[in-house]
Amino acid sequence: MRHTSPLDQFITQADHALRTILGKPKITERNNPTIHTDDTDLTDEERKLSASLMRINHSGEVSAQALYQGQALTARLANVRTSMERAAMEENDHLVWTQQRLEELNSQKSILNPVWYGASFAIGALAGAIGDKWSLGFVAETEHQVIRHLDEHLNKLPTHDERSKAILRQMKEDETHHATIALESGGAELPWPVKKLMTAMSKVMTTTTYYI
Ligand SMILES: [Fe+2]
Ligand SMILES: [Fe+2]
Repeated sequence: MRHTSPLDQFITQADHALRTILGKPKITERNNPTIHTDDTDLTDEERKLSASLMRINHSGEVSAQALYQGQALTARLANVRTSMERAAMEENDHLVWTQQRLEELNSQKSILNPVWYGASFAIGALAGAIGDKWSLGFVAETEHQVIRHLDEHLNKLPTHDERSKAILRQMKEDETHHATIALESGGAELPWPVKKLMTAMSKVMTTTTYYI
């Protein structure tokens, strides 16, 4: 493998961050799950609700991406690097799908996304530096919290917003798989104060991103 200097690494990371925030990341071969659903008419109010929820999900994916990148930088992940890279690419699919849905809903991404990226990158790098067992445990816990959010959003979305729901259902399936990989690869159960802190942070994110 070619030796990478700190400058190379910085450029790679900056490229990744910009691609994520600007919405041009590297994605997998999969289709947007909305492919089999027709668009339905939503009232103005319903459209706004869907957009607010999809904005939160989009920001969640910005954070997920930053988390995986931060972790990849510091963690060893000897046996699971390939599956973690695939998981990170699937997060990019989620990022693109939620962004496309936001556009369909005539809405926009959160202006706070650079903040979420920076914070999540730092947390991911920290977790990776502490040790693989903890960083994988952190991935699993993050995914579990995301799954709970997705369930909540699936209930809150306007009943006939099938396009948003199709995306969230596929995301839920993927996140469940990501959590399983992380646990099967040796991820540890996080201590409850850490879990509480994570819940508190995601609360800040979801409440602000609902509006901006
Ligand atoms: Fe995701
Ligand atoms: Fe995930």
